[in-house]
Amino acid sequence: MSRLDSFIRRLEAQRACLNQAAALITDVPGNVLEFGLGNGRTYDHLREKLSRRDIYVFERKVAAHPDCIPPDDRLFLGDFLESLPMAIRRLGQDTALANLDIGSGDEAASQQLARAMTPFVLQLLKPRGILISDQPIADSALEALPLPTGIKPGRYFLHRRR
Ligand SMILES: C[S@@+](CC[C@H](N)C(=O)[O-])C[C@H]1O[C@@H](n2cnc3c(N)ncnc32)[C@H](O)[C@@H]1O
Repeated sequence: MSRLDSFIRRLEAQRACLNQAAALITDVPGNVLEFGLGNGRTYDHLREKLSRRDIYVFERKVAAHPDCIPPDDRLFLGDFLESLPMAIRRLGQDTALANLDIGSGDEAASQQLARAMTPFVLQLLKPRGILISDQPIADSALEALPLPTGIKPGRYFLHRRR
């Protein structure tokens, strides 16, 4: 498969998982967390799908499209591992959906980062809350959910907090 095909499939998988996650939290009140603003693509999609929710964004350095920059009071600027304890103190356990889109191209480093973030994210995620991730995540508090139809296992990861 060409790198272009692979890129397109990854984005299709991401969009399908975001849409499925948005549907899965219909009856789970709470905020939405976006880890990795990047260009702002997934933030913009979540904002469109979940317009009534408070969406908080975590990012080290904002470089998104100007239309996709969250308001200051919804942005945790800095390293995830430094912002997460602050977010726990400020938001408590009130998250219905968390999206980790944190991959840097260094697979081992990205997976290590996801492992380091997971215990903190679990302190924010409510029971029945959904965690979607571009990195594999394993924790006994999480139940792996089937991916949307047509999405190859391993392209994206979808979990529900028990
Ligand atoms: C794959 S990009 C996100 C793409 C974005 N969701 C989009 O749809 O445009 C990953 C982002 O995570 C951020 N990031 C990676 N590691 C980080 C860390 N330890 N702390 C804060 N931000 C980090 C990077 O700066 C980058 O913007």
